[in-house]
Amino acid sequence: MNHPLDAAPAYQRPDLTGAPPVIEIKNLVTHYGSRKILHGINLEVREGEVMVIMGGSGSGKSTLLNTLLGLLRPTSGDIRLLGQHLWEISDVERSQLRQKMGVAFQGGALFSSLSVLENIILPLREHTKLDLNTMLIMARLKMQVVNLAGFENLMPSELSGGMIKRAAFARAIVMDPKVLFCDEPSAGLDPIVASAIDDLILSLRDAMGMSIVVVTHELESAFRIADRICVLDKGHILMIGTVDEVRASDNERIQNLLNRRTEEEILDPDEYLKRLTAVNE
Ligand SMILES: Nc1ncnc2c1ncn2[C@@H]1O[C@H](COP(=O)(O)OP(=O)(O)OP(=O)(O)O)[C@@H](O)[C@H]1O
Ligand SMILES: [Mg+2]
Repeated sequence: MNHPLDAAPAYQRPDLTGAPPVIEIKNLVTHYGSRKILHGINLEVREGEVMVIMGGSGSGKSTLLNTLLGLLRPTSGDIRLLGQHLWEISDVERSQLRQKMGVAFQGGALFSSLSVLENIILPLREHTKLDLNTMLIMARLKMQVVNLAGFENLMPSELSGGMIKRAAFARAIVMDPKVLFCDEPSAGLDPIVASAIDDLILSLRDAMGMSIVVVTHELESAFRIADRICVLDKGHILMIGTVDEVRASDNERIQNLLNRRTEEEILDPDEYLKRLTAVNE
């Protein structure tokens, strides 16, 4: 007789084809000073989707994230979050919209002088008028969701890398956001802890119906969690597609990224030297 688990269905990605968009980006151009960083980005993220933004260092991933969070004003183009035009609404409306977005920053960005629970409760204190007991219940519930129950009185310095990420997730979801942004959620973690964070991301999507935008360098993690992947290269989108589509792409730059080969490595050594000396001339 077969083992019962053999009959268990494989993980099925939900069909998101008809799901409404929660993020719509049209012709987005962003500069730092006079330097153009994003060169006309078009991207949609659908409800309940895990969208992974991938790309080499300096390709503009964090810039895109900051622009979506309303931290950086684009030069031109349009960003719609949950149907609202991010830069056509008032500051008050933008701040309200911002509260429907959760962010788990790279490195956690926890306040070192506050306990885990105090860190997690912070957005509720800042943005709601709930009484303390209600806030505590909400924060503790989120600590359970991220598997940190019982650690509420620890200080950030007493947490492991994986626990810091979990606490950052708990703080990011304490207001029940519709959309969650995560910057490099599994960077710097050992593979087992990293894969537990991947599971957490998928369970947040499945249990809470969140749409999740993940910026990551980690290919394995990207392939595991992404419904679709957006490949950025020097501020341009090379491709948006499912994991299978990205893997099967015959675009050389995408394949180089997947094989972790940097431009320098694939250049002919003489050509590389020529470019280096040209820069210094
Ligand atoms: N505050 C800033 N002022 C000026 N230029 C910046 C600033 N932040 C980023 N840049 C430049 O914008 C480009 C894109 O940077 P960005 O941080 O978005 O890349 P990234 O894809 O997130 O890279 P990484 O994987 O290294 O985090 C880079 O060339 C970077 O030097
Ligand atoms: Mg970055």
